[in-house]
Amino acid sequence: MKKFLSVHDVPNISSLISQALTYKADPQKDRSLGSGKRIGLLFLNPSMRTRLSTQIAAQNLGMEAIVFNVGQDGWALEFEEEAIMSGSTVEHVKEAAPILGKYFDILGVRTFPSLKNKEEDYHELYINQFVKYSGIPIVSLESATVHPLQSLTDLITITETFKEKRKPKIVLTWAPHVKALPQCVANSFAEWINAWGNAEFVITHPEDYELDKRFTQQATITTHQDEALKDADFVYVKNWSTYTDYGRVYCNDPKWMLTHKKLELTNHAKVMHCLPVRRNIELSDEVLDSKNSLVTQQAVNRVWAAQTVLSEILKR
Ligand code: CP
Repeated sequence: MKKFLSVHDVPNISSLISQALTYKADPQKDRSLGSGKRIGLLFLNPSMRTRLSTQIAAQNLGMEAIVFNVGQDGWALEFEEEAIMSGSTVEHVKEAAPILGKYFDILGVRTFPSLKNKEEDYHELYINQFVKYSGIPIVSLESATVHPLQSLTDLITITETFKEKRKPKIVLTWAPHVKALPQCVANSFAEWINAWGNAEFVITHPEDYELDKRFTQQATITTHQDEALKDADFVYVKNWSTYTDYGRVYCNDPKWMLTHKKLELTNHAKVMHCLPVRRNIELSDEVLDSKNSLVTQQAVNRVWAAQTVLSEILKR
């Protein structure tokens, strides 16, 4: 792989999942692959899992990882072409990215959407400017519209958990939240499940929370959560703000929170969430603390997803 910005950079999802499970069984098996190489991990926004799991993944491959919290420690970056920089931004990505491209062999970038300007967010201006000007492979640590390392992790988790011969029924359900969140995780999960093709896939959300069709494609979509949950093997819980009338919170109905009662509709479904999660807003204590919850397993699997992606880039 030359870069990892979305599922479109992946030639074979199933082989990536197999590779990740190989790393899970033997984390040190390629410990010399990244010897003498350095990855920069740039965070324009906060993170716990992505930051730490990618650092561990790089170490497992013998790479040095340097984290730079641009949002807190760095100069405010400008991304617009031909900007007149008379405002708060101090350094243009046209200067910063080529320098980072000389410091590092791979660059990971986390950059959330504004949720104010749909066109700018959905053109992925920020991460694409790093691709354009750094001259080295870029790995998305979550961008304005997708979170591919999370989605690869989610497929690894589903694959190692579901042992039946048939396709699992996977439900992505919207959940309430106290603030407007990006569509990234939901977009990306839908895009990866569709590209993988090994599941019956249903998305459920309140009216007006439709995601961009580019990501949902052939998934079954319903506003009836109970109907969607019927016989589900996996329920992926996630809040997102509105896409059409961009970045708004129209509904915060607590009835959309997943509870034990709702899980009775499912096929003893395993429950997934990318974390961080707002307890008793998005997901109830009783579900998060139950044996149905896969959230810790998912977060741990972030290491193997990152290790696999870095190894594929190092081998190119
Ligand atoms: N799921 C996830 O990306 O977690 P962090 O925001 O903590 O990295």
